[in-house]
Amino acid sequence: MQELSEMIAKIRQEIKSGVEQLGDSRAVYEFKKTFLDSKAGKISQLMKEMKNIPAEGRADFGKAVNELKVWANSCFDEIDTRMKEKEAKLRYESEKIDITMPAQKRITGKLHPVTQVRNQLIDIFASMGFEVFEGSEIETDFYNFTALNTPQDHPARDMQDTFYLSPEFLLRTQTSAGQIHVMEKKQPPIKILSPGKVFRSDDDATHSPMFTQMEGLVVDKGISLSDLKGMLEVLVQRIFGEGTTTRLRPSYFPFTEPSVEVDVSCFECKGKGCKLCKGTGWIEVLGAGVVNKKVLENCNIDSEVYRGFAFGIGIERLAMLKYGMNNIKLLYESDLRVLEQIDD
Ligand code: DAH
Repeated sequence: MQELSEMIAKIRQEIKSGVEQLGDSRAVYEFKKTFLDSKAGKISQLMKEMKNIPAEGRADFGKAVNELKVWANSCFDEIDTRMKEKEAKLRYESEKIDITMPAQKRITGKLHPVTQVRNQLIDIFASMGFEVFEGSEIETDFYNFTALNTPQDHPARDMQDTFYLSPEFLLRTQTSAGQIHVMEKKQPPIKILSPGKVFRSDDDATHSPMFTQMEGLVVDKGISLSDLKGMLEVLVQRIFGEGTTTRLRPSYFPFTEPSVEVDVSCFECKGKGCKLCKGTGWIEVLGAGVVNKKVLENCNIDSEVYRGFAFGIGIERLAMLKYGMNNIKLLYESDLRVLEQIDD
């Protein structure tokens, strides 16, 4: 009996000093098990001693072991609560979010500037009722030149240095070739837009052997140059902002008569004169004109009944003006530092 109460005291002491050493709730759990595990626990083992106790001492022994058990449980509960509070505090500390920190920048892909301008143009023209016709990049000499009133040996052929694939086939130098395909297939009214890549043997800061154009063609009864001017005003205001106006200057293209060069009032200096417009207040943006009767006739459209206007826009040129770029190569080098800045 004496021996057993010494054992109880020893266990108490063991628990008391043991809990001081515990570092976390996991250790508490393991330590508690060494005493209270229903089979191997030291206190549970004590209970098994009951049968060796003389009958008159059993009640006291049972009581003492029970008290030890209750005390041990509350002791472990207390240390367990303390450990769990400490652990929760540490976790909250590590999961703390500083809401004043700037958000992480997400890099998202964007459409290429040429595609952005192309889509903007298509949107603007589609709202005016234009349909898109995409021609092919390999053309015949006939569609690219002859049918556009530029027969062999015509001096206007020198305006465009052509990549010939054979005497008959070439890489189209202008989307104007699409005009002929459309007019061959369809009688007026015609209102089409033809975007696409074109190719010329030309290479400097503002020219590239491959670039993108957007052709427009309207053929109907009673069309005049003022319809073209009206449409262009809408176009430039949507692209360069309200207050932008246009100016038509006489020019020459074999497939239009009269032909014009279209300037927009400088959107940078509002016409006062700056570096961008070279002090003139105007910037050249596209070529246009009234469709030459010969071209209509080449496509079997009655030029006495129908008239049309056409225009051709260089998309890279428009993009360079819009985004303030001075070298066309910036559009093709895929330098993310450049491309990331452009998003309309
Ligand atoms: N095809 C011409 C070029 O590439 C641009 C052009 C001018 C197209 C006048 C037209 C037009 O439709 O009417 O330089």
